[in-house]
Amino acid sequence: MKKVTALLFVAAIIYSCGDGQQNESESKSADTAATAPAPAQDTGGGAVGADAEKALTLIGGNDCTTCHAIDRKIIGPAYTDVAKKYEDTPANVDTLISKIKHGGSGNWGQIAMTPHPNLSDDDARTMVKYILSLKNQ
Ligand code: HEC
Repeated sequence: MKKVTALLFVAAIIYSCGDGQQNESESKSADTAATAPAPAQDTGGGAVGADAEKALTLIGGNDCTTCHAIDRKIIGPAYTDVAKKYEDTPANVDTLISKIKHGGSGNWGQIAMTPHPNLSDDDARTMVKYILSLKNQ
């Protein structure tokens, strides 16, 4: 009987040790989860950088630069002026995506932007988000 008690005791110690470790790793992962928002924001910043790079590649790869420059009017408005005119709201982003895809005039003058029907919504969104981010420059 003593042996069994001793065994149970040892088993209890082993069990509680194991449990303790588990708790430790659980609380570790809880800690990570609690601090996750901060690194996630950093990654968000990095992602914006990556998106800006992608946007510039898209803008350069399409014909946009024929009519637009970042900070001066060519045939179309400067992108910084577009950023000042429109808040970065989902509705404005959608409107501008549609404008780039379908073309048109009237918001900046009589000259029309050519349509870009082959542009994917995703690519157009990347460019619009980038253009609207130029507000503070
Ligand atoms: C043929 C010249 C031309 C090309 C090419 C062109 N644009 Fe434009 N863009 C314009 C003109 C002109 C306007 C102003 C239209 C207006 O008055 O509504 C404009 C307006 C815009 C606007 C603001 C739209 C609004 O309604 O206020 C955005 C954003 C824009 N262009 C992005 C782009 C992007 C991105 C590309 C490349 C995919 C591009 N443009 C290619 C001429 C052009």
